Amino acid sequence: MDPPAQTEVCKAQTLEELVAILHQLFAGEKVNVAEVQSVMDSYESHPEEWAHFAQFDQFRYTRNLVDKGNGKFNLMILSWGEGHGSSIHDHMDSHCFMKILQGNLKETLFEWPGKKGCGEMVKKSERVLRENQCAYISDCIGLHRVENPSHTETAVSLHLYSPPFETCHAFDQRTGHKQKVKMTFYSQFGERTPYAASVSQENN
Ligand code: SIN
Repeated sequence: MDPPAQTEVCKAQTLEELVAILHQLFAGEKVNVAEVQSVMDSYESHPEEWAHFAQFDQFRYTRNLVDKGNGKFNLMILSWGEGHGSSIHDHMDSHCFMKILQGNLKETLFEWPGKKGCGEMVKKSERVLRENQCAYISDCIGLHRVENPSHTETAVSLHLYSPPFETCHAFDQRTGHKQKVKMTFYSQFGERTPYAASVSQENN
């Protein structure tokens, strides 16, 4: 991981501007985590800019692709219904930035289990991320589960993964055993993904 940037970081006024700045930040070989987090932090959520991406499913959270980042990153909007949550999962050695666009999300951090699973997984910490906050995680930090703790309000978050990945591992909290799961998009660029392509073992 690079040290925090010394130069002044751009502020993104709109989602479109944020995407353009992200393209610049990921143009080179190295990822400056502090810089990316800072620019994602700087964007103040305006629902009219992202509402067409934020498609919901009644039963589980959805992943909606916004931008493919010239192959360097995937930017997506996750729509969380009341009480929806992810499994405990890893990030396949990628960077994961997660910004809250609406509502709150609870993030629970876990330690990696031993090679064969270790019984009940060890919780490291738990926090509630609030609107406009941007968090970061990678496999060096640990594993996490993300949940919408509200039973009355939906939540929406903006996630950036670099490099992009299509599968990850979901972990059983009681045993630490892991399973490879395919990640799909509920919609891409605002259009619902055809049914057959979006059915898989999801990460929730
Ligand atoms: C996350 O890693 O923060 C959410 C899970 C996902 O991308 O489906």
